[in-house]
Amino acid sequence: MDVPAVLNVENVTIRRGAATTLHDVSLTLASGKTLAVVGESGAGKSTLIGAILGILKPAKGRITWDDKPVPQGRPALVMQEPRSAFNPALSLMQSVNEPLIAQRTKMDTSRLERLCKGLELPLDVLDRRPSEVSIGQAQRVGILRALIAKSPLILFDEPLSALDATTQKHTARLIAELQVEEGFAALIVTHDLGYACAYGNDIAVLREGRIEEFGDASAFVASPKTEYGLTLRNAAIALGALELAA
Ligand SMILES: Nc1ncnc2c1ncn2[C@@H]1O[C@H](COP(=O)(O)OP(=O)(O)O)[C@@H](O)[C@H]1O
Ligand SMILES: [Mg+2]
Repeated sequence: MDVPAVLNVENVTIRRGAATTLHDVSLTLASGKTLAVVGESGAGKSTLIGAILGILKPAKGRITWDDKPVPQGRPALVMQEPRSAFNPALSLMQSVNEPLIAQRTKMDTSRLERLCKGLELPLDVLDRRPSEVSIGQAQRVGILRALIAKSPLILFDEPLSALDATTQKHTARLIAELQVEEGFAALIVTHDLGYACAYGNDIAVLREGRIEEFGDASAFVASPKTEYGLTLRNAAIALGALELAA
């Protein structure tokens, strides 16, 4: 049997200018699994994504996928800022096509139609430019672009932030459904602990560039190991974002 590929982040330290924005960060994520990364603004979540993509070089430590350096251009990314994720001069369709061109594969139109339906994106939205759609539509086109190319590793940076609650639910479910079918590894950065715990197999809590907690998401909800984790969890319960098993 094939051993599933694993993303392995080992003791990674990232410096940006004079600041150290990740300190000795270690975590793992296997194919078919979801790792939710939570933490306040500025905790280093996007820095972690930049490091996995190879855009930010570790001062210490290493990052591997399937025991090799992460292949350049292979992980798909859903960027945090939906509109700036696209070239303003191109139609959204052209941008969605870019990863396929890079892989020398043709657009599978039935897959495109299915994904657009699941994302509640009318196909003609793709004929427009980024400035001609709503921010929520742009965010869903970003998700479409990440899913279309069947990358084995997909990095989602706050993928639902511009969507209303109902669309968030549909979109989260679509991503999870597709993951069951296709087996990609998903790293999902979110500040929504409810989303993190509903869809994450594992959860990593980042604080000021350090991992506070990393492990099974339901174990985290039941009993956080750190005071900070407990504070986050209790705040999410107070907001009604988490429902604890009785
Ligand atoms: N381009 C940059 N140059 C230097 N520091 C940066 C840059 N971008 C972000 N930072 C700093 O790195 C830290 C982590 O930022 P970031 O990874 O964007 O956090 P998050 O995504 O969790 O909100 C913050 O202190 C931020 O100010
Ligand atoms: Mg960020």
